[in-house]
Amino acid sequence: MKIIGFCNLKGGVGKTTLCQNLAAALSSMGYRVVAIDLDPQSNLSAGWGIEVQEGAPYVYDYLIGEASISDLVVRREGVDIVPSSLDLAVAELQLEREPGRDSLLRSALDNDEVREYDYIFCDSPPQLGLFTRNVLAAADEIMVPLESEFYSLAGVRLLDSTVKLFQKRLNRALFVGGVVLTRHNPKVIMNREVQREVFSYFGDSLYRRYIRQNISVVEASGAGMSVLSYDASCNGARDYRLLAKEFMERQRENGQKTT
Ligand SMILES: Nc1ncnc2c1ncn2[C@@H]1O[C@H](COP(=O)(O)OP(=O)(O)O)[C@@H](O)[C@H]1O
Ligand SMILES: [Mg+2]
Repeated sequence: MKIIGFCNLKGGVGKTTLCQNLAAALSSMGYRVVAIDLDPQSNLSAGWGIEVQEGAPYVYDYLIGEASISDLVVRREGVDIVPSSLDLAVAELQLEREPGRDSLLRSALDNDEVREYDYIFCDSPPQLGLFTRNVLAAADEIMVPLESEFYSLAGVRLLDSTVKLFQKRLNRALFVGGVVLTRHNPKVIMNREVQREVFSYFGDSLYRRYIRQNISVVEASGAGMSVLSYDASCNGARDYRLLAKEFMERQRENGQKTT
């Protein structure tokens, strides 16, 4: 069982899209994945067509220990999803005052129930608020999605120093397991320049595989499914399948390094 956080302090870089499609790809390869939506925007839930009814339990109840994963999950494409709701934004204000607020997710996951999964994916909001801090405190490693844009690197440096701070304070084992270009166009010179720069900063943490710009990726989440189900033969589905393969290769390499 491994906990993977999808983090970038910037919005719109493809965190949620990467989380959803990588989860769906791993599930189709036979891995058991639970995807936890920790963003009040609830894009991960919506991307799978899930809407929490008013008054129904959601990820908040999991964080405060009042519901288990099995009470909350909705299954899509073989992936178990713990949905979020806009109400989480209000809950955040209240939780911010509680002691131990950054370790809620970590405590909730410290439970036998999660051991039936191979991967726990945690999608986080785009700023260093309560829920991103919870993901950084709980994760074994983080995946950093990046756009091949000029300002991307600045955001990544900030995230990298945040990860180092969390290593010192809350989560010694935390590391950046991978950096993925989520909307890359190799024909655009600036995209290639950013790719080179990211590589010189992160080295081998940068995935060799990248996701190309692909409209089907956008349409798929609008249709409430992963791009793999939406159009298995499009570039987006192909890229995500190859990315999932690289993800597993890296998981095996990391496993060998630590054992
Ligand atoms: N490969 C891609 N090609 C085109 N659009 C993409 C691709 N990946 C993601 N997007 C779109 O980019 C936008 C931001 O992605 P999202 O995953 O919501 O980012 P974040 O979670 O970081 O805010 C969404 O509209 C999404 O559909
Ligand atoms: Mg998102």
